[in-house]
Amino acid sequence: MKKVFITGITGQDGSYLAELLLQKGYKVYGFVRRVALEDEQHRLQRILNILDRIELIPGSIESYPSIYKAISSVRPDEVYHLAAQSFVSYSFEDEFSTLQSNISGTHYILAAVKDIVPHARFYFAGSSEMFGKVNTVPQNENTPFHPRSAYGISKVAGFDLTRNYREAYNLFACSGILYNHESPRRGFEFVTRKITSHVAMIKLGIISKLELGNLEARRDWGHAKDYVMAMWLMLQQDTPADFIICRGENHSVLEFCEKAFSYVGLNYKDYLVINPKFYRPAEVEILLGDYSKAKNILGWNPTISFEELVVEMVEKDLEYNSKKIQQFYPVQDQKARVR
Ligand code: GDD
Repeated sequence: MKKVFITGITGQDGSYLAELLLQKGYKVYGFVRRVALEDEQHRLQRILNILDRIELIPGSIESYPSIYKAISSVRPDEVYHLAAQSFVSYSFEDEFSTLQSNISGTHYILAAVKDIVPHARFYFAGSSEMFGKVNTVPQNENTPFHPRSAYGISKVAGFDLTRNYREAYNLFACSGILYNHESPRRGFEFVTRKITSHVAMIKLGIISKLELGNLEARRDWGHAKDYVMAMWLMLQQDTPADFIICRGENHSVLEFCEKAFSYVGLNYKDYLVINPKFYRPAEVEILLGDYSKAKNILGWNPTISFEELVVEMVEKDLEYNSKKIQQFYPVQDQKARVR
């Protein structure tokens, strides 16, 4: 049985990837912070349904000894390094911790893989944020990087480290340059989930407005479930390489809002408020990818459309918030609340 070691298994991508690899017959190991093990309902919520089929190893990507120990004990065939400080806005508030944990974390894991399991296959979660201030639309694997945040810079460093371990030490190491990918498991701080959760709460009468920053930014949004399949495919090839993963279609934040509100029969203009505090000091205005290489070499194609993504997220947030209301309000009050 093949063994896989996943950092960031408790996140959106990690949880979908773990499910996929269980289906494929892997023995799945997840590397998690020790505090997560003490707060299962909250920190392990995305993997509660598979907890009895995976093994969690406590440690920190900021500690080389804990990574070394974990990789020595598992001796994985495949390693997916997904753990990171991944919220771009936060990287402006604390550049130091973003750079420290994202760059060193990647370096430590690569170094441990090279020393302990040099034949293991390694995946690094790169990002379209590496393109940043783009001068080519759409971007492909040859487009130069121009990151616009500490987060983007940390991902460029991780990408370069991964490529260098491939070239210098012959590691089977690949980077996926993933564009924004969402799902009902997305964290509430990211714009898509912020919108769909607010739309659901507005529809249910829990809140009355949605505050956002830059509505003009355009993103090439896809579904995380499609994207974890691409990660796995990258590690099944004969030779390691880097791939752009996207849908090849972009939409503005405003369009996402319009779609989400109109799905529940509301007009966004009645609820949307611009709050300058959500603007970023340096913005990535437009991202649009070209996934031809992934299509040709991996045989990968996205299967879930932008519209399907928005609808799934709104529906799940309606379900989630309706359950919360049932817990807190008597039945008669609930009827009065729904708009
Ligand atoms: N989060 C947030 N909150 N974003 C807002 C808001 C707001 O209130 N208002 C406007 N935006 C805009 C941001 O300025 C940005 O242009 C866009 O919405 C998307 O923001 P996020 O959803 O936070 O994602 P991101 O594009 O910065 O980064 C995500 O995608 C990357 C891949 O391109 C993250 O998942 C990264 O980790 C990932 O690498």
